[in-house]
Amino acid sequence: MTSVAALTAPLPTDVSPDGVALLALERATQDRPLGLVALLAEAAPDVDGVVLVARDEDAVVGMASARLLGSEAHVIRLAVEGAHRRRGLGRALLDGLVAWASRTDARALVLEVRAGNDPALALYAVAGLVVDGRRPRYYPDGEDALLLRCPIPVDGGGR
Ligand SMILES: CC(C)(COP(=O)(O)OP(=O)(O)OC[C@H]1O[C@@H](n2cnc3c(N)ncnc32)[C@H](O)[C@@H]1OP(=O)(O)O)[C@@H](O)C(=O)NCCC(=O)NCCS
Repeated sequence: MTSVAALTAPLPTDVSPDGVALLALERATQDRPLGLVALLAEAAPDVDGVVLVARDEDAVVGMASARLLGSEAHVIRLAVEGAHRRRGLGRALLDGLVAWASRTDARALVLEVRAGNDPALALYAVAGLVVDGRRPRYYPDGEDALLLRCPIPVDGGGR
């Protein structure tokens, strides 16, 4: 059975099963992968952030993180392990970030994505994110970044 939930204390270490899985996901999906401490610190609750993990049974097979900056929730990571893609986990993680953002002061969820990242752009399109700008040659290999945004419905429940 799959599930999505926020990562809570005690946080994984780089030798725990969750930590090993998160590092493997980071190395498989990032040009310049972070270590576990930096990866989790970027979106820690004490900086108004969140880390969500998707599990298949107990194993971490996906993660998403975001941080509140002013009135915008910035997506830091969204990744699903290769063998678990196209099963709705990316969408569930994205929906989880929107739900988190709706409990903050965020009025929009924003992110940057490679202009040629077709799977991610397809996911964002079905989830209702719209292209809001382009940063030419944003990535070290010269690829453009697209800026995507979706408004956040007001939850009304507060934090
Ligand atoms: C982008 C990513 C997170 C999508 O995760 P996922 O779990 O496969 O996505 P989902 O199964 O929830 O897909 C939901 C919908 O998005 C669209 N979609 C997702 N991947 C797609 C693909 N490869 N081709 C076409 N459409 C795709 C489809 O409409 C899909 O619905 P469907 O399967 O019913 O057709 C995953 O491909 C990934 O981890 N990529 C590497 C990391 C990355 O690029 N992250 C984004 C950084 S901004």
